[in-house]
Amino acid sequence: MENVTHIAEKPETAKRSVTVLGSTGSVGTNTLDLLAGSPHKYSVTALTAGKNVALLSEQARLFRPAFVALADESGYAALKEALAGTGIACGAGESAVLEAASIESDVCVAAISGFAGLKPSLAALENSGALALANKESLVCAGVFMTGAAEKNGCPILPVDSEHNAIFQVLEQKRPEDVRRLVLTASGGPFLNRARNELQHITPAEAVAHPNWSMGAKISVDSATMMNKALEVIEAHYLFGFSSEKIDVLMHPQSVVHSMVEYIDGSILAQMGASDMRTPIAYAFAWPERMETTGAFLDLSQALQLDFLPPDTMRFPALSMVRDVLKAGGAMPTVFNSANEVAVDSFLRGGIGFLDIESVIASVMEKADALSPPSGVEDIILIDKEIRACARDVIAQLCQRQL
Ligand SMILES: NC(=O)c1ccc[n+]([C@@H]2O[C@H](COP(=O)([O-])OP(=O)(O)OC[C@H]3O[C@@H](n4cnc5c(N)ncnc54)[C@H](OP(=O)(O)O)[C@@H]3O)[C@@H](O)[C@H]2O)c1
Repeated sequence: MENVTHIAEKPETAKRSVTVLGSTGSVGTNTLDLLAGSPHKYSVTALTAGKNVALLSEQARLFRPAFVALADESGYAALKEALAGTGIACGAGESAVLEAASIESDVCVAAISGFAGLKPSLAALENSGALALANKESLVCAGVFMTGAAEKNGCPILPVDSEHNAIFQVLEQKRPEDVRRLVLTASGGPFLNRARNELQHITPAEAVAHPNWSMGAKISVDSATMMNKALEVIEAHYLFGFSSEKIDVLMHPQSVVHSMVEYIDGSILAQMGASDMRTPIAYAFAWPERMETTGAFLDLSQALQLDFLPPDTMRFPALSMVRDVLKAGGAMPTVFNSANEVAVDSFLRGGIGFLDIESVIASVMEKADALSPPSGVEDIILIDKEIRACARDVIAQLCQRQL
């Protein structure tokens, strides 16, 4: 670890080495798109994927990392064959992904989806100059341990999530007492104007069709249920250290203002831009500098309408549930996240209806009320396992009742 250079101390002319965890996903491919545009400034150290051998090996041939890893062990032979003759080392399984995250790099982009990103994100915090974090689930479940590891290793967590990245850009970090509140904006997803009684029969295809952003399936469903915004409230709490009362959510259907900080003198500083993930990703991995992107730019000369509305927590209860989650603390953020992951997976497979997602989470939270607070990451991993089993039981009972 002593050899890892703090990212802010790296000379401007030196090439930065970048590891991308989850390189085949939406954030991962956007990241590589940016790197492809600046080959003189960045080199790729390691890439990882879940199952997608074809795309991972194509990326590896193009970016020439030292190591690539696939989480799915059954794809190992195909990956090895696809990389034959390239000299690129490869591995498969959870341990191989951890190995990739543990190779020293200047910046590690954590873009694995879901709880599976926790251990690799933690490993990256020990071995990278900076962690560009998209994987919000790791911070939601293990916020105290992630921020503790960041501090211990002198590895800053740079938010990639567009809302947190916006706040990171406009927050005067040295004087938190001057902040009145953080305002996370929410597009409202595809069902912003749907009546609640129309929501139960929403199909997975409708739920993943986000109006403004192109993202992976899980986060798209989270946006439609507003669970994404609820998880982001927890993420903001751990990233910036403000209490739940100081973190508000405002609906903003145009997704132009990515989030804001309101100060005690009435000033509101907002970050604006096109709905293009390449902007926050670029800010995170070029920090403390900026890099030119090939992404979309906002044309302010076009008549822009900016609407802001309070969220409707009756229609989207995740936003009120998250207040209870933060108040409870302890194991509850993990319970909230893990129950959601299982429920979303079931919804995407056609197992439960759209509104069942929130009822599964609520039932699991009720059952998990007495869980002891985790004393370390291993406890969180056990809680996650237990909660997944509990959520599967709740779903089985729900399906039984609906027969
Ligand atoms: N997409 C966005 O615009 C956006 C914005 C803000 C924050 N985020 C956050 O960024 C993270 C990634 O989102 P995404 O939309 O890019 O997701 P995605 O498109 O589904 O990509 C997920 C990536 O993780 C890999 N993966 C899946 N399961 C894995 C496992 N068990 N072990 C290791 N790797 C695994 C996938 O590999 P395969 O391709 O092989 O399945 C893929 O590379 C999420 O935490 C999300 O909340 C995303």
